[in-house]
Amino acid sequence: MPYDEGWPAPAEMTETEIGRVVQSFGDAAARAAEAGFRVLEVYAAHGFLVHQFLSPLANFRDDQWGGDAERRRRFALEVAKAIRTQWPDGYPLLFRLSASDWVDGGIEVEDTVETARALAAEGVDMVDCSSGGIGGRERPKRMAIAHGFQVPFAERVRRDAGLKTMAVGFLWDAEICEKVIAEGQADMVALAREVLDDPNWPLHAAGRLGADPDHAMWPPEMGWWLGKRARLIGKLGLR
Ligand SMILES: Cc1cc2nc3c(=O)[nH]c(=O)nc-3n(C[C@H](O)[C@H](O)[C@H](O)COP(=O)(O)O)c2cc1C
Repeated sequence: MPYDEGWPAPAEMTETEIGRVVQSFGDAAARAAEAGFRVLEVYAAHGFLVHQFLSPLANFRDDQWGGDAERRRRFALEVAKAIRTQWPDGYPLLFRLSASDWVDGGIEVEDTVETARALAAEGVDMVDCSSGGIGGRERPKRMAIAHGFQVPFAERVRRDAGLKTMAVGFLWDAEICEKVIAEGQADMVALAREVLDDPNWPLHAAGRLGADPDHAMWPPEMGWWLGKRARLIGKLGLR
């Protein structure tokens, strides 16, 4: 299916091509381990290939790779299996999923709970709960962006699928991120644009949350100065 009107229509993969791509995911994991990576996240969201198989909005196959939810899920599970055979046991394996397509007739969080449960059975440790990417202009009709708007997906999957989750999307406030973790809505939070805007965000958050009162997490040559500055600011009552 073309992504949207006027976009090119991709070719339907043959059985051989599917097998080759699944195998390639496993081989890539082996190369990643060899290259020194210790955590691996499969990009199975936002309209990329694995999501295309998962979503009924994109997958119109009538063979063993499409049709009902179980068959649409098969490609993702085969990818997880292929990776797990080559990715060392103790190393975390994450899947980023679009927990909802935000389009009627597409993936809903209930489907994602089932997908997460099946992925956990294949040795996936955590699901990173994003959303959207298929459905073109239909999606914005249901999607309401707000601070932490995808957190409920991470909470629901964590509660019902029995694996760890990561929350992402429009999270920027350290206290709110801390609350998401403390209240058990997710096991981790991920930030993208906020960290582009402020690459020191994690260090500022540690300071704000009282985890780094002495700037000890900063590189020593900076922490020393920042600590000194903070004391001076305090002494002069400037903040
Ligand atoms: C420049 C840029 C590139 C991105 N590339 C990817 C990507 O390759 N894979 C991915 O899963 N998400 C990607 N994202 C999405 C982010 O990972 C994140 O989920 C999204 O921006 C929402 O989180 P935020 O509100 O903290 O930015 C990208 C975002 C930005 C801004």
